[in-house]
Amino acid sequence: MIRRCAARFPVTLGGPCAVPCRHHCRSEPPSPVDDDPRGEDSEETPDTSLLTKFHSRRAWGRLLSPLDRVTQMIPPQFISQDIRDLRGAPEIEEREQGPPETPSNSSPGQEDTANPVPQCEDEMGPSRLLGTPFRPGDVLVTEFKKRHYTEFRKMFKLTESGKLMSNWGAIGHKEIVGKLPGQRLRTSIGFEFLLRRPSLEEFVLFMKRGPTISYPKDITAMLMMMDISPGDVVLEAGSGSGGMTLFLSRAVGAEGCVYSFEIRTDHHLIAQRNFRKWKNAWDIWRSHPWPENVHFINKDLSVALPDMKSVTFDAVALDMLNPHVALPALMPHLKQGGVCAVYLANITQVIDLLEGIRSCQLFLVCEKVKEVSVKDWLVAPSIRKDGTISQRVDPQRNAESELQQNESELHSDSEELPETVKPFGQIPYIARPLPWQTGHTAFLVQLRKFQPSPKYMDPEDAR
Ligand SMILES: C[S@@+](CC[C@H](N)C(=O)[O-])C[C@H]1O[C@@H](n2cnc3c(N)ncnc32)[C@H](O)[C@@H]1O
Repeated sequence: MIRRCAARFPVTLGGPCAVPCRHHCRSEPPSPVDDDPRGEDSEETPDTSLLTKFHSRRAWGRLLSPLDRVTQMIPPQFISQDIRDLRGAPEIEEREQGPPETPSNSSPGQEDTANPVPQCEDEMGPSRLLGTPFRPGDVLVTEFKKRHYTEFRKMFKLTESGKLMSNWGAIGHKEIVGKLPGQRLRTSIGFEFLLRRPSLEEFVLFMKRGPTISYPKDITAMLMMMDISPGDVVLEAGSGSGGMTLFLSRAVGAEGCVYSFEIRTDHHLIAQRNFRKWKNAWDIWRSHPWPENVHFINKDLSVALPDMKSVTFDAVALDMLNPHVALPALMPHLKQGGVCAVYLANITQVIDLLEGIRSCQLFLVCEKVKEVSVKDWLVAPSIRKDGTISQRVDPQRNAESELQQNESELHSDSEELPETVKPFGQIPYIARPLPWQTGHTAFLVQLRKFQPSPKYMDPEDAR
């Protein structure tokens, strides 16, 4: 379902609406200059006391330190005395009394009829908050975390009579049918498993593979390189396991089209099967079906292209061995100024690609060679083995007690916070990169088709 703003602008994920919308548009605070009663052109000597005040606060009354900014967002009753002392009591009091001015003409609690907040149309209404209940045929992800780490994660298809099995117990599919996404259920031996539908990224990472997939982190970078929009016609080779195909299909939408070439029949079938699985799972719970916008073609790209004289591509994505061999056949089909994004595992392959372009004198310019690195972090309250939260270690504490502290953190066994909620800022956190990370996956090359300038003619010769 495409959500639209009141003004019927489609709302895209993460992008701003063309009109102010409560989902996407943040109102900017007034500029400090606006607040200057003397105006920009004032020639008066600045009053230094005023300047000092200006530097310690923004003109709209916000305090500048990170502690101040964070505590401004928290109800005063949850702020501990230590934090109040750190911030200084007068500022808290000032906040409790409310800001000196309200930007709108309406008083607090009163509806601002002059400037109503634009609302997006929402066909689902309040049921959006709950989501769509699980039905047989749904593809789901379940996960179980212990000591901040995911111990078990599985993607499975929900059936009427199946059973989800794990080393942490089983859950009958019957129990899951009718539950809502985000629901936690207990296994037969008492562990809590969270249940939800997978994102496209997760589906691609968990689906059955033939050849290695292009990693979603790289696919999204390639989508940006190609600058694909709904309605575009895109070429892909090879289809492989169909990972990239799914992302391309989503990017071009129902009005666009993907031509996906695969030389091997077994891979061609795997890619088709994965596409169908995702589409079927999507169509079960979404009001708008996933578009049928991919042509899977079981042919060698270099051989098939000359037969497709009339097709022009807005962009091309290549994840195959020796892509430079296919480029001469591909060039007449790529629109002028269009991008061919290439996925290569080794830097020596990048050199071969560029050398192939140079030696064949192809009108392709290499604009970027990049590697996408993503680092996952663990940020969570530090919990002891017995489930209690560790105490903050003050800098004067002796080394021995710190050692004990670290020891107990290491043996921490629980994911849950204890019943009593400590006030904001009172507990220490673990905050460090996760010990295992995805290493190198690929180099991404952005090639753009250009039209050479007309041959230089000496004006004398032209006469
Ligand atoms: C690494 S896989 C692609 C994975 C795919 N991007 C994905 O996300 O699942 C490379 C594929 O390219 C195919 N291939 C190699 N040369 C080809 C060619 N000339 N034409 C079409 N496909 C080709 C291989 O058979 C293989 O399945």
